[in-house]
Amino acid sequence: MQIAERISNFQESVIRKMTRLAIQHDAINLSQGFPDFDTPLALKEAAVKAIMDGNNQYSPTWGHATLREALAEQYTPRLGWPVDPEKHVTVGCGVTEAMNAAILAVLNPGDEVIIIEPAHENYIPSAIFAGAKTVAVPLEDEGYRLDPGRLASAVTPRTRALILNTPHNPTGRVFDDEELAGVIDVVVRNDLVLITDEIYDRILYDGRQHVFPGSLEPLKDRTITVGGLSKTYAITGWRLGYAIAPTDLSAAVRPVHDFLTVCAPTPLQVAAVSALNFPQSYYDQLVADYHERRALIMGILRDIGFRAPEPEGSYYIMADYSQVPAPQAEWDSVRFAIWMVEEVGVAVVPGSVFYSLPGYGDRSVRFAFPKKLATLRAAEERMRRML
Ligand SMILES: Cc1ncc(COP(=O)(O)O)c(C=O)c1O
Repeated sequence: MQIAERISNFQESVIRKMTRLAIQHDAINLSQGFPDFDTPLALKEAAVKAIMDGNNQYSPTWGHATLREALAEQYTPRLGWPVDPEKHVTVGCGVTEAMNAAILAVLNPGDEVIIIEPAHENYIPSAIFAGAKTVAVPLEDEGYRLDPGRLASAVTPRTRALILNTPHNPTGRVFDDEELAGVIDVVVRNDLVLITDEIYDRILYDGRQHVFPGSLEPLKDRTITVGGLSKTYAITGWRLGYAIAPTDLSAAVRPVHDFLTVCAPTPLQVAAVSALNFPQSYYDQLVADYHERRALIMGILRDIGFRAPEPEGSYYIMADYSQVPAPQAEWDSVRFAIWMVEEVGVAVVPGSVFYSLPGYGDRSVRFAFPKKLATLRAAEERMRRML
């Protein structure tokens, strides 16, 4: 029996494996990025209503009209160009599918796509699906800044695209104007397509405002803006994401999405419109709650001896454990994370899985904190026992 060479190096996603181990060992799961609190009642009711109202068949492949219209209305001012729901919006099964569709739409076999590491672990498999190769640019060791010089030096004659995730998983960075200027320079100078992953665009701290890279003048006609609803509305299981792009790029993404999944779940798309119409107070509360969680987990981690830059956005902390006063602090990140889930009872993700570059992330683990304060306190209690 033949197995495709293309996928011969694929293994179970380490992030999802850590969730599996967390269940197996009854550990507190701070590994995979999903909330342990529920989605708002109004949204659950909207989903039930959508089903009862008979929205149970395929929707138009590009997305249910009401959702595309709502997205177009929101993204027109965000991107600064008239987003047309008939042409520019494609709704897919999560950011995961939208990113796959964008990557498959843009890259030929043998092409190179630049990713910034540490990176969400789906980008490399997506590139492999397209027969393309990722070229990784590491963020700087101190503070995880993006060095424009390093970015520029990753370009080769085969480079066709750049993937940019901001706010960033796993470091919590929100790339600033200087870093975005470096992105603009590399993308425009080399005629690249920019594919953004902006799934955390509503979770920023300390008054920061999300900059939509596709709104920046030099990037407007060459950016596929990918976003999703999983994180903002605590509906990671609903599988709703989207790609918004100018006409030619959108026309390329749409048939890929069509043949990948036909459409995202129709009743959930209908319900999602009510999420997009939530009042500003919902987003203010979301951000206030995340500030509280960030303050709690940062305090806990610092007390225990982890060192980590405070996240500027998203809900992750990449924490260096080499100063934790425990003999295991000598171990590499995979061994350390396995020990944490099996013995300490707290699941985290080994830092090295966010890198294809050898030797990086070896003394770090990622904590995800979209959790109840009680969950974070319970994790603290267990982690104190490791000292
Ligand atoms: C950066 C990033 N992109 C994409 C995803 C997956 O998003 P979705 O649930 O919309 O497929 C995640 C989930 O953790 C993520 O952190």
